[in-house]
Amino acid sequence: MASLIVTGGVPLSGTARVSGAKNAALPILAASILARSPILLYDCPKLRDVENMLSILAALGVKHEPAGEAILLDASRADAYVMPQGLSKALRSSIFMLGPLIARFGSAVCTFPGGCEIGHRPIDLHLRGLSMLGVRIREEHGLILCDGSDLTGADIHLDYPSVGATENIMMAAVAAKGDTVIRNAAREPEIEDLAAFLRKIGCFVTGDGTSTVVIRGGMKRTDPHAPIAHRVMPDRIVAGTLLCAAAMTGGEIALDNAVPTHIASALAKLREAGCTVTAAENRVFLRAPKRLREIKLIETLPYPGFPTDLQAQFFALCTLAEGTSIIVENVFENRFKHGPELIRMGASYTQKDRTVILRGVSRLTGARVTAKDLRGGAALTLAGLAAEGETTVEDAELIDRGYERLEETLSSLGARIRRLGSTAKEEP
Ligand code: UD1
Repeated sequence: MASLIVTGGVPLSGTARVSGAKNAALPILAASILARSPILLYDCPKLRDVENMLSILAALGVKHEPAGEAILLDASRADAYVMPQGLSKALRSSIFMLGPLIARFGSAVCTFPGGCEIGHRPIDLHLRGLSMLGVRIREEHGLILCDGSDLTGADIHLDYPSVGATENIMMAAVAAKGDTVIRNAAREPEIEDLAAFLRKIGCFVTGDGTSTVVIRGGMKRTDPHAPIAHRVMPDRIVAGTLLCAAAMTGGEIALDNAVPTHIASALAKLREAGCTVTAAENRVFLRAPKRLREIKLIETLPYPGFPTDLQAQFFALCTLAEGTSIIVENVFENRFKHGPELIRMGASYTQKDRTVILRGVSRLTGARVTAKDLRGGAALTLAGLAAEGETTVEDAELIDRGYERLEETLSSLGARIRRLGSTAKEEP
């Protein structure tokens, strides 16, 4: 069990580099099993979820080893399509392996992904999309058995622009006969990063970043001896989290390796709160005002709307903003678990269903609080940075699932924060 001990009251200052994005790295790692050439993957974040994905790949016969700053992956001898059960349960993103395994082997066996900390997270859209490509799916004893020996391109309309379902269908469709069209596809930048990777390894994908993604079945031959390099896109949620931290502490920071257009919705809300935000290519600068102003309305939505993965951090920010702020969580139910913990620090809000009305207070006070999920845990850490006195964030290993040594990044910006205990814990 790990805790973060934060002594609040220091305005953050300085420059930090944003790490590669977990949500881009995971599907790209899954897709690496399709590559005929070795892969050199740069900026892959060092996170528990990434380690789990690498262990799953290893169990399927994909070799990986460090190569300087990169990870070298070699899928030429991959020989298994049955996912290791324990690891699959530990990592929700293991579901991403279904599409690539079906594309490579014509078959896949996977367990239902394990526990969910932010509400019910079904996979019906993934399975419906795959079955429209001709995959025969049976569910037995908690296992999902897929027979995709006769993959055929299809016109698929998603009922909701699910990020994971769009990615899974894209990866299966590369081996289908003919074209696949995914309509109402997710438009998240991570989809574009996956598509860029798929194109490098020889797949034919167009339309990524729009709501219509087209995949032409088949793959170009690539040289089995020449490694293909790919750099994972910067993590827009890490960037947004660090900017919130600076805003809440009255600080002034610059972020390198941040793509301003990817976080445009968050930057607009930071400006609304009174921050001065300047954006250049791959760089964002933020200066906080003396007192944050209320944010009239934050509604989480699929990209390019405001990301649900930044809702908790902005919730923490709004607890300190002058006036009344409103947050509506549309993407996941049950994603306000950080709220009651923030009340322990002096926050004031009311909740009805998916809507929270926050009345900003002039100060938070340090307390012992518990991270209930990844982003909520980050939000509590930010609150601790802004609070008077000492805050202990328990179960901080949840935060490690999405942030590479968050406390080190924050320390480098002047924060007084340290870790107690180890980092290792399985995803719940
Ligand atoms: C991805 C991100 C996650 C982010 C989320 C929304 C990764 C590894 N994770 O998760 O950090 O919070 O996008 O931006 O990229 N849904 C269904 N049926 C399905 C699939 C999803 O009903 O088959 C629902 C979910 O319950 C949820 C909504 O669709 O309410 C969004 O989920 P989705 O876009 O699929 O998120 P993930 O890909 O799981």
